[in-house]
Amino acid sequence: MLIQPLVNDSDKAVVLNSYVVNFPELQFFFSMAFFDKKTALVTGASSGIGRRMSLDLAARGCKPILVARRKDRLTELASEIKETTEIDAVVIEKDLNEPGAAAWLFSRLKEDGIDTDILINNAGFGFKGRFLKGDAATYRSMTDLNVSVLTELSYFFLPDMLSRKQGGILNVASMAAMAPVPYFAVYAATKSYVSSFGCALWHEMKGTGVHISTLCPGPVRTEFFKVAGAKEGDAPERTVQTAEEVSKIGLDALATNKMLVPTSNSLRILSKVSSVIPLKTNMKVAASFMKESDS
Ligand SMILES: NC(=O)c1ccc[n+]([C@@H]2O[C@H](COP(=O)([O-])OP(=O)(O)OC[C@H]3O[C@@H](n4cnc5c(N)ncnc54)[C@H](OP(=O)(O)O)[C@@H]3O)[C@@H](O)[C@H]2O)c1
Repeated sequence: MLIQPLVNDSDKAVVLNSYVVNFPELQFFFSMAFFDKKTALVTGASSGIGRRMSLDLAARGCKPILVARRKDRLTELASEIKETTEIDAVVIEKDLNEPGAAAWLFSRLKEDGIDTDILINNAGFGFKGRFLKGDAATYRSMTDLNVSVLTELSYFFLPDMLSRKQGGILNVASMAAMAPVPYFAVYAATKSYVSSFGCALWHEMKGTGVHISTLCPGPVRTEFFKVAGAKEGDAPERTVQTAEEVSKIGLDALATNKMLVPTSNSLRILSKVSSVIPLKTNMKVAASFMKESDS
């Protein structure tokens, strides 16, 4: 309780955050305080990272608004949240690729009298393979969902966060944002946008009390690979993280307003290395991870 006003006071939060980063117990304490009694819109809550984040938000005392296309999954998740935390999650079945979906979602929550304190821009998908092997309609949906919907949702929900001087946005980007990735070309480009946009917003929101964090996971065990047309074993097992690990790192990052967050130590090193090596070398390494032939 005592810490809540400190977290919402952006100047003090900046000073405190520099200490908090090095103390995991403090990080958890901040995380609880940041999310307690808030409401968070989670896009892509029906599986993987979004599902796990919804459960973890509720465990931190935050009411999740669950958005995705598969309503049965969302309803099941809402029951699990109710059973474990007594929190009534809101279920909204919506295809975010429908034209005007972001504006519709914003109006719907306003009409229902729900104040959205936190936005988790998580819904997204990729396509793995040579650029010309994919089809144009898939690339259109991917760029719409990963880029345009994320931008529009941020645009609609930020003003209320600013007027309340609290809350924030967590964007789920990817390590694919760090450099162009051959055989994952469109997906990596969409995630570069997310990272660039997220960091710029973080700067613009400094001193407002509104947090903006952008998360960069490597491979995570979810339905993502199947949807992207990749094989289970494509990523080396030791590099694959669980949705639980990624969710915790993401929520703690948002609570302490970290700007850009690779989700493991090795990914942090990789991001530093890729920022200093030549672009062509970078792409050669990235392409080798994709296990596609150049011929
Ligand atoms: N898994 C990884 O290796 C990895 C690595 C780095 C970054 N990421 C990023 O993490 C985020 C979450 O992915 P995930 O790994 O958790 O994959 P996932 O298990 O496939 O989850 C994707 C979520 O997005 C939702 N979604 C997809 N299209 C949608 C649409 N048109 N409208 C509404 N919701 C939609 C899906 O729900 P419905 O199908 O029910 O609509 C699902 O809930 C994505 O942005 C992804 O790019 C994943």
